[in-house]
Amino acid sequence: MTTEAKEKTKPELCQEARWGTHIPAMTLAVSLLPGKVLELGVGYFSTTILHNLKPEYLLSVESNPGWMARFVNQQSDIHKFRHVVDYDKLFNTIGLKWDVVLVDHAPYEQRFHDLARLKGHCGMLVVHDTDEYTLAQLLKEEKINKMQELLDSFKYRIDFNHVAPQTSILSDTIDVGSVILTGINVKG
Ligand SMILES: C[S@@+](CC[C@H](N)C(=O)[O-])C[C@H]1O[C@@H](n2cnc3c(N)ncnc32)[C@H](O)[C@@H]1O
Repeated sequence: MTTEAKEKTKPELCQEARWGTHIPAMTLAVSLLPGKVLELGVGYFSTTILHNLKPEYLLSVESNPGWMARFVNQQSDIHKFRHVVDYDKLFNTIGLKWDVVLVDHAPYEQRFHDLARLKGHCGMLVVHDTDEYTLAQLLKEEKINKMQELLDSFKYRIDFNHVAPQTSILSDTIDVGSVILTGINVKG
């Protein structure tokens, strides 16, 4: 990693704050496309905000049942929770076509597999922890390049890198940058 890249992505926040740096990108994506939203990995920084953005339908998926229990009181007709053991079985059931997916679950390697399977099927994928520094903390060395290649393989990619860890909005069908600019202009 270059010195410049290290400087840009080094941790500046306490650990808990680092878990919430995806909030602006996630909020923007769902505001622009408030249809069917899938949240991979529940928590204090995403679940309630997604709920309050009131998309058409929200499915929150979590692998840790004890952790999920803290949030499941938000369940409603349009916000469902699902405990996942096997992600292959999960996606066989829920399908791959979602308007927005937040990719923020553990372990990080699972994000790679799910991003790969969702590629080409969704409107926008909001992926937390995509900068070089954070990838190096969360992935084995041989997997880092593969993840970077996968992130780069999307036709459209916007990186929210003003604060680390970085979040990326990815799409193969929506020119994310143009849509963001248009959305901002339309809303004044
Ligand atoms: C990065 S966290 C998900 C954060 C969530 N999307 C948010 O923005 O608040 C990824 C996963 O770590 C696990 N996790 C995070 N904090 C935990 C805790 N305090 N106890 C148990 N599991 C935790 C959960 O399985 C969670 O889905």
